[in-house]
Amino acid sequence: MDYSPGLAGVPATKSKISFVDGQKGVLEYRGIPIEELAAKSTFLETAYLLLFDRLPSQSELDRFVRDTIRHRRIKYRITDLIKCLPEHGHPMDAVQAAVAALGMFYPADDVTNPDVQYWSSVRLIAKLPTIVSAFYRLRRGDEQIQPRDDLDHTSNFLYMLTGDVPDPKIAKALDVCLILHAEHTINASTFSAMVTASTLSDPYTVVSSAIGTLKGPLHGGATQGVAKMLDEIGSLDQVRPYLEKKLAAKQRIMGFGHRVYKVKDPRAKILQTIARELADHLQQQGGSALLELAQEVERVGEELLQAKGIHANVDFYSGVLYKEMGLDPDFFTTIFAMSRVAGWLAHWIEQVQDNHLFRPTQIYEGEHNRPYVPIAERG
Ligand code: ACO
Repeated sequence: MDYSPGLAGVPATKSKISFVDGQKGVLEYRGIPIEELAAKSTFLETAYLLLFDRLPSQSELDRFVRDTIRHRRIKYRITDLIKCLPEHGHPMDAVQAAVAALGMFYPADDVTNPDVQYWSSVRLIAKLPTIVSAFYRLRRGDEQIQPRDDLDHTSNFLYMLTGDVPDPKIAKALDVCLILHAEHTINASTFSAMVTASTLSDPYTVVSSAIGTLKGPLHGGATQGVAKMLDEIGSLDQVRPYLEKKLAAKQRIMGFGHRVYKVKDPRAKILQTIARELADHLQQQGGSALLELAQEVERVGEELLQAKGIHANVDFYSGVLYKEMGLDPDFFTTIFAMSRVAGWLAHWIEQVQDNHLFRPTQIYEGEHNRPYVPIAERG
């Protein structure tokens, strides 16, 4: 029996949602290159595309946007639940707990019903930013800020974090980040979502499973690791010694490497441009030299890792961007979840349409027929 550790290269499904060519650095959502979507779409329009396999008409988009605005608020008991969580706990755990609890308020067991699929998707996409911002503020002892219906999805999220209507350039940059993180074939968290979906569990449970998987440092958690690394490096002259020391100690450089891409991640390329534009914009307002430091880390990192064909991935420049925006690093991965929820839900819908319970096999390497030794006789 062939064995592929980590199921690398093993097709686990047939899908029409996204396409990756790791050799050429291509990523398409429903056949549309992400470069096009990053330049022309919005996160909500892209989410619609992923969920329903077509770009919406103006009236369909208006309705979807209106429906998400109407479902941004969370029940006070979800806020109370978030208040009970330890302020030093990881935000991804808070978001996972709140999403699991949401499902208790909105039963959605009829998973193949298109209405259930539509409204669960609307609720999860709409409420995740409210949950994230609630924990962001409540853990500091600040009051939760209610959503503002006149603000778009991303501006409203930034508003709920700070109470200020955000700089439109920052909101636009974040919206592009959400587009670029929304979907990426059968990555670890999406596979986790699909396994849960294949048991016909409800979409809130599907998404909370995926959030738990996204949290890990080898997946979405790397974004937070990038911020930590940039802080530890501190200055341009420390880049090379820092990276060389890490590699000599056989440690991984966060934000580098990818299971599929053997060239630079196309999302990292777009995010690098946006990080440059944002740095120029913020520089006018007294911004920092963070991007110069990040680009030096990328340059030296690629030089040191080129023999293994390892390049910067999406988490590298999103980590840089969120740091530029002044967000708390341990929240970076929750922003990833706010975006990837669209992809998880698209895969949930696709999975239940032609469901087969995921139940792989294993190669057993243990013993057989061991005697049961009474406890008094065990050594
Ligand atoms: N830093 C240093 N070495 C690395 C890195 C890295 N970031 N990534 C891979 N390598 C090395 C490994 O040590 C290994 O070397 P070896 O063959 O000498 O033992 C070789 O490259 C292959 O590594 P694998 O782990 O087998 O490759 P895989 O495809 O499974 O790894 C992964 C992909 C997990 C993303 C890896 O590159 C990594 O750990 N990166 C750092 C964490 C990160 O940035 N994760 C975000 C990924 S993007 C996303 O999830 C949205």
